[in-house]
Amino acid sequence: MSMPSYPDISRVLYTAQEIEDRVKELAHAISQDFSGQDVVLIGVLRGSFVFLADLCRQISIPVAIDFVACSSYGASSVSGGNLSITKDVSGVVQGRSLILVEDIVDTGLTLRELKLFMESKQPHSVHIISLLDKPSRRKMEVTVDYIGFTIPDEFVVGYGLDYDERFRHLPYIGVLKPEVYNK
Ligand code: PRP
Repeated sequence: MSMPSYPDISRVLYTAQEIEDRVKELAHAISQDFSGQDVVLIGVLRGSFVFLADLCRQISIPVAIDFVACSSYGASSVSGGNLSITKDVSGVVQGRSLILVEDIVDTGLTLRELKLFMESKQPHSVHIISLLDKPSRRKMEVTVDYIGFTIPDEFVVGYGLDYDERFRHLPYIGVLKPEVYNK
């Protein structure tokens, strides 16, 4: 299958095939590690929607699906504690094995706060899976239990990730040309 090319993308970091292969491995690990548990996959909107959709279809144990949405506010968000939940989970999470599903961990603020928020609901456990990890940008310590790919500090888009709400639909993960976001 030919890959759509976009003039704003400088290079492809992970092809659709590479992502598919890695997602299968992650789904296999989760299916083994959580066998027999009452699992809820919780997608963090909006960037995780593509990853979650592919991941859940490769998982071979029963899982429920839910979503949260949040936004960080103000410049002080980098110092932590300033995350507002704009959409809470819809279903019951108490006593269940929760897996927060993210597209990318950057500073770590979002997942650190979300994990604390979920833990306050008295689940059985809270784990984290992220397709991408950018450890060089970390400001908050957070344990990411499953990582798809560790990436350098570049502006990546596609497979759910956006720049100004564009590029989420690309089937691959690409590096955005600096002139696009430096305009
Ligand atoms: C992105 C990503 C994570 C967060 C990671 O979301 O999906 O939720 O940023 O960054 P952090 O580790 O520095 O907190 P974004 O706010 O861009 O929203 P989106 O998912 O709707 O694109």
